[in-house]
Amino acid sequence: MVFIETNNEMTNDFVSNKQRLFDRWAPSYDCLFPSVIYQAIHQRLLKYVNLPPKARVLDMGCGTGRLLNRLASQFPNLHGTGLDLSSEMLRFARSSNCHHPRLIYLRGEADTLPFAENQFDAVFSTISFLHYLHPEHVLNQVARVLKPHGSFYLVDINCPQFLEPYLQVFQTTSAEAIRLYSRESRQQLGANAQLKCLGHHSLLTPVLLTVFSK
Ligand SMILES: C[S@@+](CC[C@H](N)C(=O)[O-])C[C@H]1O[C@@H](n2cnc3c(N)ncnc32)[C@H](O)[C@@H]1O
Repeated sequence: MVFIETNNEMTNDFVSNKQRLFDRWAPSYDCLFPSVIYQAIHQRLLKYVNLPPKARVLDMGCGTGRLLNRLASQFPNLHGTGLDLSSEMLRFARSSNCHHPRLIYLRGEADTLPFAENQFDAVFSTISFLHYLHPEHVLNQVARVLKPHGSFYLVDINCPQFLEPYLQVFQTTSAEAIRLYSRESRQQLGANAQLKCLGHHSLLTPVLLTVFSK
């Protein structure tokens, strides 16, 4: 596992670059081929989701809000918050919010979550963890905002050979901008943040779900 040493300026550049890329991608995000894959992933993820009645959930890096709409349809008493770096992604999420006011969307960064501790029964992250510069900070934040025994559903690409098309979308060859985590490194990162790994499930060949509990 590689942790990247950064100063504030590097971190700000990294985050603004990501924001620009996702703002640019937002208008076509739900129409392009990767979206078909993402929606298949969301559908398969539901099979493993276990929530208490009236669950409060956070979707970190929520993009256009497709996963939260699906969760809110499946769990009629759920309240969800979507958080994303990209204002443009959030604009589309708000305009396709089928469950207002049960679902709300906020702009923010995953490594400084703007919530008090012990707020959520579950946190979701689908195909966004690979973008985080400081994964260890993000996991500490997830552990902080989860209620005791709450769940973290981490879904990400885990096969390097499937990264190539993704790097093309981002017009970068830099694997530094996107990082993949094996089963072992997910487990280790979780343990460092006091999150217990309950298991891994393949959702698609290159996409792995890891479930953690606080
Ligand atoms: C590939 S999209 C996935 C969106 C959604 N989770 C899905 O399954 O369709 C990755 C999302 O992560 C967001 N993101 C990237 N870095 C982030 C950060 N540091 N904090 C919050 N969101 C971030 C991007 O803006 C983008 O909307």
